[in-house]
Amino acid sequence: MDATLVRESPFLTGHHQPNRMEVDAPDLVIRGRLPDDLAGVFYRNGAEPLYPPTDEDYHWFDGDGMVYAFFISDGRVSMRNRWVRTDKFLLEQGEGRRLFGVLGNPMTADPKSHGTRYNTANTNVIIHGGKLLALMEGAPPVALDPRTLDTLGEETYGGLITTTFSAHPKVDYSTGELINIGNAVHGLGGEAVIRYDVLDFDGAPVVTELIPVPHMTMLHTFFVTENWVVFPVMPLEISLQRLLSGGPMTAWVPDRPSKLGLMPRRGTAADVRWIEVEPRHMLHEANVWEDEQGRIVADVAAAEGTALFPDVNGNRAGHAETRQSLRRWTIDPKAKSDSLNEEIVNDRDIQFPRPDDRLMARRSRQAFANSNLNSHDGRVEGMDSALRVDTATGAEDLYHFGAGTAVGELIFAPRIGSTHELDGYALTLVHRKDSPESELAVFDAANIADGPIATAVIPFRIPSGFHCNYYSVDGPLYRQAFGTA
Ligand SMILES: [Fe+2]
Repeated sequence: MDATLVRESPFLTGHHQPNRMEVDAPDLVIRGRLPDDLAGVFYRNGAEPLYPPTDEDYHWFDGDGMVYAFFISDGRVSMRNRWVRTDKFLLEQGEGRRLFGVLGNPMTADPKSHGTRYNTANTNVIIHGGKLLALMEGAPPVALDPRTLDTLGEETYGGLITTTFSAHPKVDYSTGELINIGNAVHGLGGEAVIRYDVLDFDGAPVVTELIPVPHMTMLHTFFVTENWVVFPVMPLEISLQRLLSGGPMTAWVPDRPSKLGLMPRRGTAADVRWIEVEPRHMLHEANVWEDEQGRIVADVAAAEGTALFPDVNGNRAGHAETRQSLRRWTIDPKAKSDSLNEEIVNDRDIQFPRPDDRLMARRSRQAFANSNLNSHDGRVEGMDSALRVDTATGAEDLYHFGAGTAVGELIFAPRIGSTHELDGYALTLVHRKDSPESELAVFDAANIADGPIATAVIPFRIPSGFHCNYYSVDGPLYRQAFGTA
């Protein structure tokens, strides 16, 4: 093991310690019995540095993208993982060492990295337009072969998307459209402008619109409903100027309001109305839709601050003060004055809330999330539980894996033939403390509390990662990408 890779950072040790290996496992051992009507592919992306970072401080979001694929059918599971071979990855691999500064910091970069984009492609992995795409928010998507995970190259949509593309696109299943944003399209030192993109079911660009935002920020996600998009600009500010003065590049600005940009889904930059609301930190939503009164209802994982980045003075908040709970934000686009009504739907400490993806941008009732009961800081020590919340009542359905377990994002997987919410399973990748193996745990979606009904055993620890997605063999996105339509 490379000693320099396991130095101080909590994101290079424990559940996060990199393996730096690529594997093909044709037939994983199954504990329990996998249901016959679960057939599809589960993809997960995460950060796994090919080489030790040279900066003093490492950041959880920095490592090279490593995509895992689990192919599920006939009660069996095969698994494969591959690094995303971005230009950054290939350049550093060719040199045999790390060249880029952490998070692309130009102050600590080797000059040999100049001219190559900092693209880790490590945050999410989705199917759209017949392609498997590895995503990070600072660069265009990187297309992979959906079966072999071989890297095919950056996807620029015919030269349209050449700068940034968020890791959290929304796919509206009723139209097949992918709606997304690109943050900081003029670079972090330029004017604060985002790009709004709509791609049709085949991945052809339909809309692209440049939209000024109040300040440079980490715009990790945004909201889409049937008729609206919302751009949430939190009090987290990115400033190259502050970095050059020796401060943190990305920092929380205390007492700054959150600003939400409301735009009709088919609108333009001229239609955006910014409302100012209480300071909040929010990186992920379960789902967003419009109610009967035309109000925008957003079920989000939110908190009053963040432990991910320091404040402008370099002070970093703790997990306890910044843990996120499932909250419902209701915004009335017709209201004359700025307002956001916030209710706590469920107060558990959660990380990544998710809906039944088929209902994205439409009313849904169930939210799935990984949750933390016992650990001091779930991002480091592991989110130890799987949680489903009935968002209409706040009632929870929870399974605790045990202290010290790292439970990844919990996602809904429809059973074959499923047509309604909750008709299927819930899947997550799990690593128990000090265990030599990881598990792909399969729950009955309507009964999380009873624990997994089956588990595919991975005979090594998969490092904690970020986002995952499931595509059922009878779903439109799978059929298009795998040519089985
Ligand atoms: Fe995310």
